[in-house]
Amino acid sequence: MVIAAPLGGIGAPHRPVLLEETLKFLAPERGGLFVDCTMGYGGHSEAILKSSQNTRVLGIDLDPAALAYTQQRLAPFGERFRAFQANFRAINAVLEQANERDPNGILVDLGVSSLQFDSPERGFSFRFDAPLDMRMDPTKGDTAADLLQQLPESEIARIIFEFGEERHSRRIARRIVECREQGTPITTTTELADLVRQATGGHKRNQIHPATRTFQALRIAVNHELEGLGEFVESAVDLLIPEGRFVGISFHSLEDRILKRELKKLSGHCECPPRLPVCACRAREVVEVLTRRPVAPGVLEVDENPRARSAKLRACRKL
Ligand SMILES: C[S@@+](CC[C@H](N)C(=O)[O-])C[C@H]1O[C@@H](n2cnc3c(N)ncnc32)[C@H](O)[C@@H]1O
Repeated sequence: MVIAAPLGGIGAPHRPVLLEETLKFLAPERGGLFVDCTMGYGGHSEAILKSSQNTRVLGIDLDPAALAYTQQRLAPFGERFRAFQANFRAINAVLEQANERDPNGILVDLGVSSLQFDSPERGFSFRFDAPLDMRMDPTKGDTAADLLQQLPESEIARIIFEFGEERHSRRIARRIVECREQGTPITTTTELADLVRQATGGHKRNQIHPATRTFQALRIAVNHELEGLGEFVESAVDLLIPEGRFVGISFHSLEDRILKRELKKLSGHCECPPRLPVCACRAREVVEVLTRRPVAPGVLEVDENPRARSAKLRACRKL
């Protein structure tokens, strides 16, 4: 399913990733309440709503632009679809505000949408010259440029290394701090992309653009994407009714590691060292993991939508 590009967005429209697989694990044809924690432009929400007349969807997104667009696009579903601007970590508060409880399914499709990525003014991509923003909610918090202006060099290097797995992280951080010491701080996407290109020795054939990892790392830091993800999975699972499903789609190895670890813990696997007299990791058997290995998109999907290539899906069933 392809969604038409809204808001004058350019480039490819957003395609919901691993859609068939998501529906298989969420099983929305059972009807009931589903929470789409990262509604975006509503591709997954729409498919859930179409799967049965008896489904209702609460969509959550941090991005006011996604909210405005999707509320309008999915308006034909009437009261079966409602959208909330919130952080999905506040899922309990959203359910309370919606006067809803007992979801049959909860979906989280992490990261940015193509339309955020393809909107030049959002500053997510080095393909466009724009202010270095990268906030999913552009009304709150520090921009990527603010972080590069404020953080110590060692912290910038840590972010680029940990979240971007960039081996030149120290050299990039040094150059960023040199620029600000010289009174010419990095404030735009192009300035950062040029700096990274120079610090890493440029673009090699058949390799990703040298700034890709640094941009990804900064986006994760700006939006605190990994913070509290494990706790969120636990509270989402606690909200589900028996036989309810949780589906998580990630695009980054650190996110996938958190999803894997949480689902393992919630299926009763204690990861404490054997010398501990009592379990400290809070393992409890409340779910059955439905994906022994993460589910990845097939060749056809990656061909049609190259941005799906790093997606991994994990799912569980509440006992
Ligand atoms: C990969 S897109 C989801 C696309 C969506 N499944 C679709 O089919 O259109 C991720 C979306 O999650 C939102 N998002 C990311 N982190 C969030 C958070 N912590 N709370 C709420 N929304 C978040 C982003 O703004 C973005 O719109």
